[in-house]
Amino acid sequence: MSDSMKRQLQVKENIRQLVPYSPGKPIEEVKRELGLTDVIKLASNENPLGPSPAAIAAIRHAAAHVQLYPDGSCYELRQAVASHLDVPGDHLIFGNGSDEIIQLIGITFLSEGDELILGDPSFSRYESAAVLNQAKTVKVPLKNWTYDLEAIKEAINEKTRIVFIANPNNPTGTIVTERDVRAFIEKIPDRVIVVFDEAYYEYVESSDYPNTLRLILDGYNLITLRTFSKAYALAGLRIGYGVARPEIINYLNQPREPFNVNLLAQETALAALTDKEHLRKTLATNQIGKKRFYEGFEELGLNYVPTEANFAWVDVEKDSKEVFQSLLRRGVITRTGDIFNAPTYLRITIGTEGENEVFLSALKETLGK
Ligand SMILES: Cc1ncc(COP(=O)(O)O)c(C=O)c1O
Repeated sequence: MSDSMKRQLQVKENIRQLVPYSPGKPIEEVKRELGLTDVIKLASNENPLGPSPAAIAAIRHAAAHVQLYPDGSCYELRQAVASHLDVPGDHLIFGNGSDEIIQLIGITFLSEGDELILGDPSFSRYESAAVLNQAKTVKVPLKNWTYDLEAIKEAINEKTRIVFIANPNNPTGTIVTERDVRAFIEKIPDRVIVVFDEAYYEYVESSDYPNTLRLILDGYNLITLRTFSKAYALAGLRIGYGVARPEIINYLNQPREPFNVNLLAQETALAALTDKEHLRKTLATNQIGKKRFYEGFEELGLNYVPTEANFAWVDVEKDSKEVFQSLLRRGVITRTGDIFNAPTYLRITIGTEGENEVFLSALKETLGK
């Protein structure tokens, strides 16, 4: 296609401005490009143990009837998640990953000129929800790598429609506490919807973590997002959910595609939810790995941010793109901080014990320490 033909395309201005999501590098791509046979991916905060045996059995079972459309209302899964969370079923919406619910929130509540507030750095999909709907993104810098709720409160004005709070935050692994959230929520005007993205909720060890479901049941205009991609190890199936008052859920359902959550995802999520042992192993592996990462970083004299999630945020004290490339040559895929405006930081998913050792020795070699 010639340049002049490309110029003739009448693409909407906000779509032109959208920056496509840049995912972690896939294992097969790194093997191909660098001629490596052993590659580990610690780049996308996936579960290093893989899915639970019950989930795999459910996929096999469900495979036999994928000629059918899925249940658009996710009835069985809805019952199970409602009972798991102890909230009524009408407080739930399921999505093709929590990514889809972030998008639905934007479509439902943002119009041209509205404002969406987020912490910086944080998860990039929130900004896309604003751009997609011609709304303005207001970025409030983190304080000590943590969402600054005081500054966010100050940034709210009559144009503000949504505040996104990743808790734990990606890429820093930090949390805002129950006390801070309670104080914050009391001062927010009712017309502003506060979204707590709790994608890493299951990994949190701190007793100060807020119970946002309680706040929803108390009637606040809050949406809590959770996912089956991380602790439940189903990232490849794409299923997440939102919790909110039924009035909010009903509006979010208006633009939702009728069969947005596929049949394999629904049946497998249901099975994964019942496998408590696999979740226990996942969390135990993460706790052990977290301690080992801290030890490794301390041995190398590196500053890191204590994490409540399944990844670490560490200052490698030089251009992390170079460190990334060197780790890649040693078969370890990580994530550079430049995309989060922190060019000397790396984000690394906590892996299995073996993967963590491979990463730490590759890092030691890379830094020449
Ligand atoms: C904070 C945060 N929210 C949401 C997501 C998206 O998760 P899902 O796979 O459910 O779309 C991620 C994925 O990395 C994330 O880090």
